Amino acid sequence: MPERLLIDHCSPTLAGLKTGNMFPVNVGPGQDICDELRQLNRLLREKGIRVVMLRRNGKKALVYLYRPDYLDRDLRCPAMGDEVLEESEFDPMFTDVEPALAGKKIALFGSYGWGDGQWMRDWEDRCREAGAELAADSVIANEAPGDEETELCKGLGAALA
Ligand SMILES: Cc1cc2nc3c(=O)[nH]c(=O)nc-3n(C[C@H](O)[C@H](O)[C@H](O)COP(=O)(O)O)c2cc1C
Repeated sequence: MPERLLIDHCSPTLAGLKTGNMFPVNVGPGQDICDELRQLNRLLREKGIRVVMLRRNGKKALVYLYRPDYLDRDLRCPAMGDEVLEESEFDPMFTDVEPALAGKKIALFGSYGWGDGQWMRDWEDRCREAGAELAADSVIANEAPGDEETELCKGLGAALA
């Protein structure tokens, strides 16, 4: 894959300013894009970057270059304070995207410690009030997600795809 393509599309992620960049790649005849991505991953792994193919449609592939630790930071949502969304990073990010939720299909997941999931019920209400459609039952994990929650989260992805 031409280096230029990565520079043009992924500079913000490579520079650590963004979580990820998605970009289309034209796959030439005989080009082994999976092998190219494997090689790229070998180079980029130690810099905290990963690259995956999200979709392939004949000669076009959709590639996502991302920072797994940033993605974890962006998507994790523990119950905090007193049954509220984590306040320092997650809630401000969510408040930013809230106006764009109207009419969108979404799915929620998060973790909790000692409560009974009230933070999730409130979060679901907030999403519905913003006009979002919840495509599947939310997934909550007590502390870190186990195998069961991981499988349920795959179900959320399938409901959205
Ligand atoms: C400051 C603070 C407040 C918390 N408040 C709640 C709470 O109100 N209800 C609850 O069930 N868990 C609460 N927890 C527990 C966290 O939700 C739980 O430890 C977390 O989901 C673990 O996920 P993490 O490892 O991704 O942070 C709180 C944790 C901290 C540190």
